[in-house]
Order: sequence, then C-alpha cells, then structure tokens
Amino acid sequence: MHVRVLGSAAGGGYPQWNCNHPNSARARAGDPAAPRRTQSSIAVSADGQDWILFNASPDLRQQITDNDILHPRTGLRDSPIKAVVLTNADVDHVAGLLNLRESQPLNVYGTQRVLSVLAANSIFNVLNPEFVKRLPLTLETPCAIARPDGSATGVTVTPFAVPGKVALWLEDQSAGENFGTVDEDTIALEVGTDAGARFFYLPACARMTEALAERIRGAALVFFDGTLWRDDEMVRDGVGVKTGRRMGHMSVSGDDGTIAALAGLDIRRKVFIHINTTNPILIADTPERRAVEEAGWEVSYDGMALEL
Ligand code: MLT
Ligand code: MN
Repeated sequence: MHVRVLGSAAGGGYPQWNCNHPNSARARAGDPAAPRRTQSSIAVSADGQDWILFNASPDLRQQITDNDILHPRTGLRDSPIKAVVLTNADVDHVAGLLNLRESQPLNVYGTQRVLSVLAANSIFNVLNPEFVKRLPLTLETPCAIARPDGSATGVTVTPFAVPGKVALWLEDQSAGENFGTVDEDTIALEVGTDAGARFFYLPACARMTEALAERIRGAALVFFDGTLWRDDEMVRDGVGVKTGRRMGHMSVSGDDGTIAALAGLDIRRKVFIHINTTNPILIADTPERRAVEEAGWEVSYDGMALEL
C-alpha cells in the first residue's frame, strides 16, 4: 500500500493566512527549519495507480499540482483520484470537495451524519450527482472502496468512532457541553489492502480510551492528531481563547497527552498529522521536535511518502 501525505497542517494551514505567531512568521520568511504545510489530507493507493483521498482539504488544488501521482494521465479529462473518504465535516476536511467539480466521476464516502451535512449545503452539488456518488460508511463495518465504475480499488476502510466534537461550524450552543456531537461526527479509519497491509488514520481525537489503545496496539503505522503541543498553547501564546480540549483535540505532551498514551502500544511507526500553526513540533530546531523524535514519533510533512 502506498501512502502520500498531501497536507500535514491543521485547519488554516501553516502559515495560517492571518497569523503572525513566531512559528508562522518563520514559515512565511522561508526558514528551511519551518517548511510550509497545507491542510491535513493523505492519499492512499493499493496499486500505485489509482488513489483515494482521505479528506479533501481547502488546499486540494495545490496538493494535486504538487503531487504528480494525482495528475491526469490519459485523454483530455482524467484523474487518478477515484474516491474521497471523509472523517468529519470540518472545513479543513470537506471544503476541498469543491475543487473536484467538472463532472469527473468520483465516489465520496462518509458517515450518514457527514453526508447529511453535505446534502444540507447545496454548494456541494457542484459535484454533479450524475457523476459523483455519495456512499455511506457504517461504523465498525469494513467498506471496500470502489472506483466510480464499481470495480474494487483493493483498499478497505473500517470506520470507527473516536472521542471528538462536531465540526466547529455545526456546533449547537443550546445542546449542552458536547454541542450536539454524535458518534458519527468524528471517525477514524483502519485502512487495509487485500495483500494484508494495514494502518490507522486518526486526524482528530479528543481523548485516549482503553478500547482505542487496544485497537491500535501493535499496528504497523498510525497517523495521529498532532494539533497542539499543549492544551492551553493558543491561550498562552495569545492567539486564541480555546484550549485543545474545547476544540476536540488531545495534546501531544503531558501526562494525558498523545506521546504518553501511545507509549508501550508497540506501534512500529507513529506519525503526527493535522498540526496547528502554533505547535512547536512544526519546526525542526525546537526542543519539542527533539522530544517527539526521541519518543519515537515522526512529524509528517507535505509530500511524505510511506510504503506498507
Ligand atoms: C479542528 O480540527 O478543530 C477544526 O478544523 C477547526 C476549524 O474548523 O477551524
Ligand atoms: Mn481540523
């Protein structure tokens, strides 16, 4: 199985358009230790020919341009992108669908909850329903991802709910502490091929649970939510009022952080993705980057290629 990181940053990208935090300033200045990053998405292929996008970021047009594996190959209209699998309805994960208009056949997979969000927003009809099927994912049920002609891509995903929060723009302030969040709002994926390769994709996760730890134990590869280094980072740095917890993201450091939670789970490759513009692990020369690497983690970057 081939995996390509299209975008490694969280919502807003790195640098974020309106951000003058020292991290963003270094990226904007072209500092080689602080390479720019687009918003989180990966592409997966069983055969190295046809690709499935996991989430469609607002930067998708640039991501396609930057990755020749996603370029048209034959004829006047063509795309190796055969399907998109959505893990939630966050802006950074669905807005890129709008780039995939132009009557190109495509399958879009999401939970009923996420598909209902697309259905309620008629702008997504620019993906001409005659060519673009929307197919439901059922929690805990393996789904063989198909090309638009119905043939199997050889990639199967098993969606499962993880602790999380409804997309920011769908929060219901009247619904109490969880803003109306349901299980299908934030899913993670176990991704496998017929040949037996297997990895986990968790670009958002609010909390580690025993069940989640057991599920990913022993995995060959796990991509995990790397939004913040510490829960109050945005507040301390003066760029926001929200904690990671409030946003539905567990943090990298700390006793209940991701490094601690995944230590001892015998995972061969642990890779952070969806990294916020304030997170010091974005930058190659920080003590925090050294700490994650010493803990056996990799920090994904745009264009990172992995083989399983
Ligand atoms: C998140 O991951 O928390 C969201 O992408 C935030 C947002 O929509 O800005
Ligand atoms: Mn996000």
